[in-house]
Amino acid sequence: MAKRLKNFQKMTTKDVFLSVYKACSEIPGKRGPEAGYLLWGHLTRCASLTQDFFASEYGGSNRKSSVLKELFLSGLLHDIGKLFLPAELLLKKKLEKEDWPIIEKHVEKYYVENALEKKLGIDYKSVPHEIIDIGTKHHVLLDGTGYSGVQIDSMARFSENKVLLTFMIIDKFEAGTSFLRPWQPRKRYMQIFLELQEAMEKGQLDKTKILSFFSFLFDDSITNLTCLPQIVSGFYGRR
Ligand SMILES: [Fe+2]
Ligand SMILES: [Fe+2]
Repeated sequence: MAKRLKNFQKMTTKDVFLSVYKACSEIPGKRGPEAGYLLWGHLTRCASLTQDFFASEYGGSNRKSSVLKELFLSGLLHDIGKLFLPAELLLKKKLEKEDWPIIEKHVEKYYVENALEKKLGIDYKSVPHEIIDIGTKHHVLLDGTGYSGVQIDSMARFSENKVLLTFMIIDKFEAGTSFLRPWQPRKRYMQIFLELQEAMEKGQLDKTKILSFFSFLFDDSITNLTCLPQIVSGFYGRR
């Protein structure tokens, strides 16, 4: 008998967290656990940064725990489609041109929905569309370049999505400064900031979102962060 899928709305953050952890640790192949470790690290750090950034934006008293939970889970699930990529590809030290079309598949709607169902055992229809949207659209750039797993009907509407636009910056920051990309040396805060600024000048990223995210990273008055250990220990490099 087919296993019953879990209803996302009835799951706690911990339930989803554990499902993702289990799926990452079960990536098949000889190097599966190693690939799973990299992916897990990126997903959890993106989740913390996203939740913490928006918690600071909304201010202490306006925080709604259900909103923050959804933001945390958006970060945790954004690259879930990568569970279908071969472990060897996630660990490659040098990527070839032909590797990119395979990597880009992780945002395809089919990959995202199937990863939720087949790898996490979650009924994807019960997952809020905002979370699926982040999974399928987080590599779209504002000038229409980048790549998407779904058709973008209106760039104007896309550019109004505050969470998605901010998440794109958080994802690029995390992936660039951490171990996620074995084909690239880890970069420092400032290096990433300059790269993001360059993309902003080309009209690819939103200027105000870059500035607010970096002022959040530099704001030492915020102490109740789940991502604080990484920031203070210099995990993301020197500020
Ligand atoms: Fe991605
Ligand atoms: Fe990512």
